[in-house]
Parts: sequence; C-alpha cells; structure tokens
Amino acid sequence: MTVNILIVGAGAVGAFYASRLAHLPNTQISVICRSNYTAVAANGFSVTSPQYGSYTFTPQHTFANPREAREANIEWDYIVVSTKALPDVSDDSVILEGLVRDGNRRTAIVLIQNGLGVESPYLSRFPNAIILSAVTIVSAAQTSPGVIKHNRWTRISIGPYLSSSGDSGTSTTEGVHKIAIKSNERFVQLLQAGGIKDAEAYSAEKLQLVRWHKIAINASMNPSAVLSYGSTNNAMAKDPELYCHLKGVMDEVLATAPKVLGTQLPKEFATSEAILRSTMRNTSGSKPSMLLDWESGKRMELEVILGNPIRIAREKGLEMPRLQSLYALLRMAQENRENQKQSSKI
Ligand SMILES: NC(=O)c1ccc[n+]([C@@H]2O[C@H](COP(=O)([O-])OP(=O)(O)OC[C@H]3O[C@@H](n4cnc5c(N)ncnc54)[C@H](OP(=O)(O)O)[C@@H]3O)[C@@H](O)[C@H]2O)c1
Repeated sequence: MTVNILIVGAGAVGAFYASRLAHLPNTQISVICRSNYTAVAANGFSVTSPQYGSYTFTPQHTFANPREAREANIEWDYIVVSTKALPDVSDDSVILEGLVRDGNRRTAIVLIQNGLGVESPYLSRFPNAIILSAVTIVSAAQTSPGVIKHNRWTRISIGPYLSSSGDSGTSTTEGVHKIAIKSNERFVQLLQAGGIKDAEAYSAEKLQLVRWHKIAINASMNPSAVLSYGSTNNAMAKDPELYCHLKGVMDEVLATAPKVLGTQLPKEFATSEAILRSTMRNTSGSKPSMLLDWESGKRMELEVILGNPIRIAREKGLEMPRLQSLYALLRMAQENRENQKQSSKI
C-alpha cells in the first residue's frame, strides 16, 4: 500500500527529510508551500549534500495553501510539520484542520521542530490524533526558494508524544499508544530506508529527555550568539568568559531536566564539557539559527527554546535564572525591533 506523506513547512529541514523519503518505492510525498511555492511548483526542490550528492526531488503534489491540500482529499498517513515553531506569531496546528484522519488509516502528525512544548497546540486541537515528536541535529538551509543545502549531520530521534492527562491507562488510550508506537517505528524505518541511517525510535519518555538535552545546546548558543553581536558557536566556545557562561546555561538546563521529568538523563548524553569541546573543534563557522533569523530580521524561536522551558520548570517550582535573563533580554530586544519596524512604516 502506498504511504502518503504531507510536509507542512517545506523549508530546510522539511524538504531535506522529504527528499530522502521521496527515494522510496510506494511512498508519495506532497508539500504545502508558502513563499517557495512558485519555485517548487515550477522546478521541484534541488538538494545538495556532502553525503547524498546533488539531486532534485519533485513532490507528488505541490499545494499553494492548506485549502488546496484539503481539496485533494488524500488520506495522509503522516503529516510532517517542520515550520519554525513560533507560537507567539501563529498557531500552525490550524493548517492541519481537515487533513488529519481518524479511524483505520489514522494520520500521524510528526513534529520536526526545536524547543519544548511544541506538541501542545497539536494535542489541544487533535486530542485523539497520533503525535510523533522529533528532534534533529541536522544542519541544513534553504539558500533560495526550493534550493536546499544539506551541510552536515542527519541524526533524528523520534518518539510518540503521549498525553500525560489523567485518563492514561484506560483501554482506549492504551490502544492509541500502541498504534502510536507502531506508527513511530514505521516512520523511523522509512527514514532509514531513505538513507538516514541514524534515524532512531525512542520511547515517549526518552524523547522528552532528548528534547531537554537539545535545549541545553540551543538555549545557550542561540541567544548568546545574538546578544554577543553575531558570534559563531566556535568563537563563543573559545572565549574564556563566554565558555563559562555557555557551560553555566547548559548545566542549569541539564540539572533541571531530571527534576522536571522525574528521571535521570541517560549516561550516553553528552555533558556540557563534551558539547563545548566538540564546538571548539567545529571550525565550519556555523551560526545558530536564532542568529540567522535575527540577522535577516525574522522572528526568533524564543518561546519554545527559552520561554517554554522556563514556564515548564516553574510549574514544578523550579527557576532557571540564567535562562530567564537571556529570555528577558532577547524578548525585549525583539519587541523593540518589531516596534521600530512598525514606526518606520508610518
Ligand atoms: N535548519 C536546520 O539546520 C535545523 C536543524 C535542527 C532543527 N531545526 C528546526 O527545524 C524547524 C524548521 O527549521 P528550518 O530551518 O527548516 O526552517 P525554514 O528553512 O525557515 O523552513 C520553514 C518552512 O516553513 C514554511 N512555513 C511557515 N509557516 C507556514 C505556513 N503557514 N504554511 C506553509 N508553510 C509555512 C516556511 O515558509 P516561508 O519561507 O514562507 O516562511 C519555510 O519554508 C525549526 O524548529 C528549527 O529550529 C532546524
């Protein structure tokens, strides 16, 4: 049977993973585009990768908007969401209205996004849906509309997102959980078959540990790169004062995660020292995504990378003062810039 996959947010990450899945027999990939619609509808995507070479990928359907996708009336097995997670700007779960199927051929929503709490809007809107939560360390960029540059790394960790609401344990919920686990394994197998050898299936609990661990990296490097006026990760790790700061932020997150989740971080997860050692070795000059967004005048993923971790910890009576300072400063910097943009339009 053909597996139908819809990509919502066909930018760097969405189009890269889609291009790997597109190699598979019996798998049809479609995309909902936005600003890259004209280019993708005309020429598909072109992908360059040090690992997979240069190739093009033409989606089965290229939709200009969610309405076109709904009108196609396709039973989607997976809807992959890889928009930037900007809950302060838009609730992207609305895009999936009318596209998520219940019943025998149930749709799984796969969220490939950075941050914490990205699942909540989807769980609220589709309480019975299967939600798979994915964390990737890929480095990729859409350098012009429809042109995807894969730089390095492919690892993607995926686990079901199970509602922690009070009704778990009922037979209906258990049934949905079993389907979610199977659906998760199947999606990971598809990625592996598409050449993503380090796609890995996780339990719901362990996946949230992976999310927190990635927050340690993102919440330290991303805001600090902006607040230090455009530093690369490598330059920050090599500066003695910034090294202390980055390590302090990472350790704060890594110490808070087990208290929030009620379980220790696995021993195989890299320590702050190991992350910083590897950052010092990486001389590629890569800039964190928040810095790239700031430099191009775009909104940053502040809420899911900083705001949500702070709020989730606070619900457990825990404070993360280093994160809180970064969040407060950068949120105000963003607000000031947005206000300036508005007043310069008048
Ligand atoms: N890039 C990386 O190397 C990397 C690595 C790890 C994790 N991540 C995470 O992966 C997620 C995606 O990042 P990305 O770098 O792939 O971002 P990106 O290149 O900006 O791609 C996001 C895509 O979503 C589209 N989009 C946004 N809202 C939409 C809507 N309402 N309808 C249709 N399309 C919509 C955007 O279109 P427009 O161009 O019109 O805005 C863009 O094409 C983020 O959470 C990011 O933090 C990225």
